[in-house]
Amino acid sequence: LAIAAVIPAAGVGKRMQVAVPKQYLPLNGKTILEHSVQRISQHPLVAALWLALDKTDPYFAGTPLVNGALQRVDGGSERVHSVLNALQLIDATAYPWVLVHDAARPLVRQADITNLINGCLQAGYGGILASPVRDTMKRGQATAGRNLVAETVEREQLWHALTPQFFPTQQLREAIAQALAAGVTITDEASAMEWAGQPVLLVEGQADNIKITRPADLTLAAYFFEQQHL
Ligand code: C5P
Repeated sequence: LAIAAVIPAAGVGKRMQVAVPKQYLPLNGKTILEHSVQRISQHPLVAALWLALDKTDPYFAGTPLVNGALQRVDGGSERVHSVLNALQLIDATAYPWVLVHDAARPLVRQADITNLINGCLQAGYGGILASPVRDTMKRGQATAGRNLVAETVEREQLWHALTPQFFPTQQLREAIAQALAAGVTITDEASAMEWAGQPVLLVEGQADNIKITRPADLTLAAYFFEQQHL
């Protein structure tokens, strides 16, 4: 089986409070983007990779990835548009399944990617890496200028959605295009498939597969990186 991979990397990373987009920040001597690309393209089942970059991205050319075996595609205004731009270039006959992974998750493990792929192929439908929620969860409600607890949400069935997410290429492309046309907010691939009424498998992944979002996440990522390489 030849699997296509898409890495959306066209974000600007506002929450990082730095000038450089977060995927270009360093982690153990390489950019976060290089780690993410390497971990996905190194997987033995991944046969081709599409990387969505901002049209005016001045940083990519300075990385070793510029000489790598990957297809560049222009990013869109939001993550979902970057992903759709890439999906539209993929031949679904040659690559019936696609793996989508955030550029901002440099710590994903090979074993988790394998578990996700195998779990989905066995089930016959797509799925995502996810990790169970551990904290007690509250729904809040703004009341007289304060945030009050409206209720406690059952934690048992709650999961953090991670990436990669793995779906049949053609189905995902259609689900995203149709959801966008219907004005639905799409924050990950699974939400488009859910909207289209398709089943989505939850495959438990390691919680160290964090998304670099805030400055402190870099320190945490460096720690996890070290732990993975002990
Ligand atoms: O901002 P956030 O962390 O949710 O972004 C998740 C991923 O989507 C990042 O890898 C980012 O580069 C990418 N992205 C994109 N195009 C956008 C916005 C975000 O490819 N317009």
